[in-house]
Amino acid sequence: MRLSVIGCGYLGAVHAAAMASIGHEVVGIDIDPGKVAALSRGEAPFFEPRLPELLEEGVGSGRLAFTTDISAAAGAAVHFVGVGTPQQQSGHAADLSHVDEAFDSLLPHLRPGDVVAGKSTVPVGTAADLAERVATTGATLVWNPEFLREGWAVQDTIDPDRLVVGVPEGDEGERAAGILREVYHPAVAKGTPFIITDFATAELVKVAANAFLATKISFINAMAEIAEVTGADVTLLADAIGHDVRIGRRFLGAGIGFGGGCLPKDIRAFAARAEELGRRESVSFLREVDAINLRRRDRAVQLVIDGLGGSVFGKRVAVLGAAFKPFSDDVRDSPALDAAVRLRGLGADVVVTDPQAIENARRLHPQLTYIADRDEALRDADAVLLVTEWDEYRRQLTPEHAASLTRGRVVVDGRNSYDPKAWRAAGWTYFGMGRP
Ligand code: UGA
Repeated sequence: MRLSVIGCGYLGAVHAAAMASIGHEVVGIDIDPGKVAALSRGEAPFFEPRLPELLEEGVGSGRLAFTTDISAAAGAAVHFVGVGTPQQQSGHAADLSHVDEAFDSLLPHLRPGDVVAGKSTVPVGTAADLAERVATTGATLVWNPEFLREGWAVQDTIDPDRLVVGVPEGDEGERAAGILREVYHPAVAKGTPFIITDFATAELVKVAANAFLATKISFINAMAEIAEVTGADVTLLADAIGHDVRIGRRFLGAGIGFGGGCLPKDIRAFAARAEELGRRESVSFLREVDAINLRRRDRAVQLVIDGLGGSVFGKRVAVLGAAFKPFSDDVRDSPALDAAVRLRGLGADVVVTDPQAIENARRLHPQLTYIADRDEALRDADAVLLVTEWDEYRRQLTPEHAASLTRGRVVVDGRNSYDPKAWRAAGWTYFGMGRP
């Protein structure tokens, strides 16, 4: 099928490449000429495992092209819109200006019978408004939220857990759902749940999923706070409750908490939208989820201060990680950089290292010192703070090796990734998060 993908960020670029890889003819459209130029050369403008291979193959085969020219969308049977919906400059609601601009520019190129599939994460109610505008062209809007995780984006797009499509009522909705089934034919053929809903449900599924994941993380971090005053070990607690299949162990990783371009802004936008709908109290717990999450960053910084005897002033702190999670170079709302900036503000000599995210981190926080080489970053440090659990810092760093490089022997494990016994045995003062 001929497809267009409007917006070539994390979502759109991966979607375009993944759709080409399953046999579609795809044009990706973005207003950023730099991004389009890189993608047209078959290069990924950000770090995402497997994406470079897919881009190279797609562009090389001629099935995948990128352009800044929106008129290239004309003639595609399905137009995916995956532009960003960041948090507003002032306030917690989502900024829908990119969605509005994308639809404004796309509408003149739609033909009767086309399907427009919104993928951006939007406040519930957005699709119904957009559907009226799309209907004036004779095309049909569906809402098809995306659940990909950065670092696993290609796999999540080609082989998702479920497909959700919000459609208008009646024959038109059924026809559009049928077309989406064709688009996702390999996943549909292997029996991936394909859930057809109304617009509001589809929009809500997305924010509810992220709200649930954020709540799960903050729940275990709340238990970490209790563990800290009782001497309990939150990692054992998570293992024990996680054996109950109704609870499950995944996303019960206590530590410095969640960041990134999705969970933090999505729970805030959800709370803001609920308030507009007169249902503030229904999701007021999300404010607690947010507050617990941010307190963990304070806690990590405090542990470094405590470890260094009450002050970090003039002390060298090696921060392992800048990305908001491993297998990503994304530093949006990264707990790692937040902690690094705060420690620097307290007078520490902070050195940040990361295998992929230094360039992005430097753009956001040029005042920090970055050293790409892990061992050079550790050299002469008085304290080590692990914040992004890349294998280089977790599995491949032994406490003995670290001790051979650092001046001090204080380690704060912001992801509860290390074996405290092993680090203590090597002479370190070990601090976990919610561990004795
Ligand atoms: C998240 C969702 O997991 C995806 O399903 C969704 O599609 C995506 O947002 C989105 O809305 O686009 P992502 O932001 O890539 O995906 O990252 P996650 O893997 O969810 O991790 C989010 C944060 O939670 C990271 O900072 C991670 O370190 C943290 N985390 C995760 C924990 O602190 N503890 C855990 O146990 C798990």
